[in-house]
Amino acid sequence: MTNNRRTLLATLLAASFAVAAPMSAFAQKKIVVGFSQIGAESEWRTANTNSMKTAAAAAGIELKFSDAQQKQENQIKALRSFIAQKVDVIALTPVVESGWDTVLKEIKDAKIPLILMDRSVDSKDTSLYATHIGFDFVKEGEMAGQWLVEKAKTMKGDINVVELQGTVGSAPAIDRKKGFEAAIKAEPRIKIIRSQTGDFTRAKGKEVMEAFLKAEGKKINVLYAHNDDMGIGAIQAIEEAGLKPAKDILVISVDGVKGAFEAMIAGKLNVTVECSPLLGPLVMSTAKDLAAGKTVPRSLIGKDGVYPMETAAKEFPSRQY
Ligand code: AHR
Repeated sequence: MTNNRRTLLATLLAASFAVAAPMSAFAQKKIVVGFSQIGAESEWRTANTNSMKTAAAAAGIELKFSDAQQKQENQIKALRSFIAQKVDVIALTPVVESGWDTVLKEIKDAKIPLILMDRSVDSKDTSLYATHIGFDFVKEGEMAGQWLVEKAKTMKGDINVVELQGTVGSAPAIDRKKGFEAAIKAEPRIKIIRSQTGDFTRAKGKEVMEAFLKAEGKKINVLYAHNDDMGIGAIQAIEEAGLKPAKDILVISVDGVKGAFEAMIAGKLNVTVECSPLLGPLVMSTAKDLAAGKTVPRSLIGKDGVYPMETAAKEFPSRQY
């Protein structure tokens, strides 16, 4: 081979690599995740949605986001639209536990891996979803109840609790109630005298607490709210009734949002049980694994913990949501 021909061959090879490199980069298709979110009922939910959107952008994933406005039928419609669009992975936070089998079977038949995020479903057939990235809500209820059992050692007489439940039929409402009731069995003086849903919202939490105060007045010693937002709404009702939250009526709630830490620093909320909404990065890395055909753990549990008011000022600066 002459020197000229060698140079020409080298030039052609270099040119073909130059073309091949951008083509292979182009060939890496962006993963598309369809995400059916419940709505925007609480500070926790807003942080959870932000975490999902930010993590998707950071992971280079296209997120098709659908807000169900608290309605299961909207979620079912969104899931069917994700199937029609042939997304790579679906993430679902089911507003309630029951009634999912038919649509989950459609997702399975379309061979789209499904991630249940935060809340779970009560389907007997667990092959309908690839994984559940969420929480042990029973344990959260137990931690709230155990805090009260401990506190009861410093209290005299009967301890009357009013309970603000989350959305009727939702996993956290069912399980946080179950866990709390199991834990307070350790102290027979603790009794739940009223229990009603506040839909996980501040406005409803306030409204229902007003009704509890009207019906039971000073008989109420403790409020147990299934989330911080309802607790914060109820604190307003307690103050408007001329009582001191966290003193005349102890206030226990769940989530660990900034609003709860502010209420604890202000001396109005006694304790919050953490349930971190920052699941986005884990959901996105799991979605990538599923899209690549990898096997993922059946269940991944998020961060929890108990934060009494005495720890609030120290913890507040490092809170991320
Ligand atoms: O499913 C998690 C719960 O839903 C959070 O505790 C609550 O704040 C939210 O709305």
